[in-house]
Amino acid sequence: MRLARKVTAMAMASMMVVSMAACGGGDSAETTTAAPAETTTAAAADATTEAAKDAAEETAKEAEAAGGAGGNIGVCIYKFDDAFMTTYRNALQEILEGKGYTVTVMDGKNDQAEQNNQINNFIAQEVDALIINPVMTSAADQIIATVKDADIPTVLINREPTAEQMSTYEKLVYVGCDARQSGTMQGELILDTPNKGDINGDGKVSYIMIQGDPENVDAQYRTEFSVKALTDAGMQVEELDLQRGDWDRNKGQEIAQNDLAKFGNDIEVIFCNNDDMAIGALQAIQAAGRKVNEDIYLVGVDALDAALNEVVNGNMTGTVLNDANGQAAGAVEAMEALLGGKTYASGEQSIYVDYVKVTPENAADFQ
Ligand code: BGC
Repeated sequence: MRLARKVTAMAMASMMVVSMAACGGGDSAETTTAAPAETTTAAAADATTEAAKDAAEETAKEAEAAGGAGGNIGVCIYKFDDAFMTTYRNALQEILEGKGYTVTVMDGKNDQAEQNNQINNFIAQEVDALIINPVMTSAADQIIATVKDADIPTVLINREPTAEQMSTYEKLVYVGCDARQSGTMQGELILDTPNKGDINGDGKVSYIMIQGDPENVDAQYRTEFSVKALTDAGMQVEELDLQRGDWDRNKGQEIAQNDLAKFGNDIEVIFCNNDDMAIGALQAIQAAGRKVNEDIYLVGVDALDAALNEVVNGNMTGTVLNDANGQAAGAVEAMEALLGGKTYASGEQSIYVDYVKVTPENAADFQ
C-alpha cells in the first residue's frame, strides 16, 4: 500500500508540476547525506520514510544509469519538530540523495534569524541550489533578495510568498499546494455527513476552529475556505471559538479540552488546520466521553499515518492528503529545471500539487 501511495504521489507530481498557476550562521549541518534526518516528536515518528526510501531506490537506479547528478544542495526547514515537515524533509532528502546530490538539511528551529544565518552559510559554501521552507512568510522579501544577490537557483516550499514577491527573481520558484483547496475539502467532508454537520438539528453548524500559525497562508485559507464551503452550500454556521494551535498536537489537545469543557455538546464540528492538532483534539474528545461521527465531527489536513488510522477506525471524520512525497518530487524537478538554466516569468512561479479528500472509503489507499 505504501508503495502504491508513493507511486500515485510521484505520478501525480509529475503531472501537476507541468501545470503552472499564478497565485496570489555558523551552525554545522543537522543532517547530511551520511545521516538520515532524526525525528523529534512522537507525531513525527508517525511520519513515514518508507515511501521516500522506495522513491530513493528507484531514483538511485536512474541516477546511477545516468552517471549521477552531482551538485551540492542546501535545504532549510522551518523547524524539524513538525510532523508534516518531517515526512516532507525525509522524502526530499531521499529523493535528492537517490539522484546523486550531496545534501545538507538544516533545522531553522522556528527562528528566522537562525535560518537567515543558515542561508548565508550555504551561500558562503557556494551550494549549487537551495530549497527553503521559510520560517516566516513575511521574511520572503529578505530571503529572495539574499538568494538573488548570490545568484543561487532557489525553490521555496510549504510557505507561499506572493506572486509579486517572487517576481523579483527569475531563478526562483515555489512548489506547494493551493491551501484554499484543502479548506474547501474539509468543508465538503462535513457536508458529506448525514446531517451536514448539524448534529442537534438546530439549523446551524456550531464549530470550533483550531488554527495553525496564522502568519501562514495555509492556516488563513484553510480557516476561511472550510467554513465557506458550508455557507456556500446554504448552511448557517456559528463559530464558538477560533484559536491558534500553531500546527502543534499538544496545543490542539489543550484548545479542544478547554472548549469541550466550556461549550460541551454545543460543539458539533472541530475543524483543525492540520492532522497533528486534530490528533490532539481527538485525545480531548475521547477524554470528554464524546464519540466522533456520532455526537461530534473532526477533520484535519495532511493525511499523516496516525490520522489515516483514526479515519479508518472512525475516530476522525476525514482528512485531506497534503502530498509530501509529490511536493518533494516536484521541488526536486523544479530545482533541476533551474539548474538546467530554466527561468520563471512573473506570474508563473507557483507550481501546485493537488490535495486529495480522504474518507474511510479511500484512507487505506494512502496508508
Ligand atoms: C501542514 C502543517 C505544517 C505546516 C508547516 C502545512 O501545510 O499542513 O501540518 O505544520 O504546513 O508550515
